[in-house]
Amino acid sequence: MIITLAMQKGGTGKTTSTAVIAQAAARRKCKVLAIDLDPQQNLTSALGVADDGPGDAYNLLMGARAADQIHKSNQANIDIIPGSAALSTIPGGPGSARRLQEATRPISALYDVVLIDTPPTAGVLQYNALQAADRLIIPINADGYSADGLYTIIDNARQIQKSNPALKIAGILYTRYDPNSEYDRQLFREIINTFCRGTGVPYLGTIRTTDKVKEAARDQVSLYTHAPRCTAAADYMDVFSEVTGYKNT
Ligand SMILES: Nc1ncnc2c1ncn2[C@@H]1O[C@H](COP(=O)(O)OP(=O)(O)OP(=O)(O)O)[C@@H](O)[C@H]1O
Ligand SMILES: [Mg+2]
Repeated sequence: MIITLAMQKGGTGKTTSTAVIAQAAARRKCKVLAIDLDPQQNLTSALGVADDGPGDAYNLLMGARAADQIHKSNQANIDIIPGSAALSTIPGGPGSARRLQEATRPISALYDVVLIDTPPTAGVLQYNALQAADRLIIPINADGYSADGLYTIIDNARQIQKSNPALKIAGILYTRYDPNSEYDRQLFREIINTFCRGTGVPYLGTIRTTDKVKEAARDQVSLYTHAPRCTAAADYMDVFSEVTGYKNT
């Protein structure tokens, strides 16, 4: 299964969610490939790259042999195709959104789960990630929440479903949620009652806020090693099970 995390807005929890869902899958003994499609390379920083070979996501999109772009990450059961600043130079234009889909075809069967992190903009990188995916997870949070932004990503996904009918919208993932915040509780209700009911897009889950996720990313360790009993570890494990159907035991 290929899962893309996308939302054309900064800081909504795309990279954190990609990393921790990868870690949840690895914890469940899945073989995982993480692809960092963001020129900021934050996913690559969070998972670590265990060697200094040349392969990266830019070469992958430019048609180099896919298997040569794969590295071991610093974490068990997770391989990574690292990001690169050069990703920002990938040209758009007709057919350009199919590069990743074609590139991942020979390697995706080697993995139980492939996860793709994307930059905070709608554009050729996000479209490639949607065209290559079976599932889309849309992370959002209370900071600068905009319903318009959500309508845009849903429209883009529905557009891409015409050329990639396998793509399903797994749903909205509310990250950095503070159960003690009235603002968060209100927004949660609004998203479910207005947005999800209105569009038919599922509400996927809620990830509570905890510094443990920042610590794990900083130290390049799995959240399931660093703080297996923290709120976010449990929340992300539920999301992983919900999206993939793996039993949460
Ligand atoms: N559950 C959480 N608890 C606490 N902090 C969190 C949580 N989830 C994410 N964060 C923090 O929120 C910030 C933004 O998260 P993240 O980098 O994952 O967002 P992003 O959507 O990938 O951002 P960008 O659009 O820049 O790529 C980070 O500092 C991250 O550590
Ligand atoms: Mg990011």
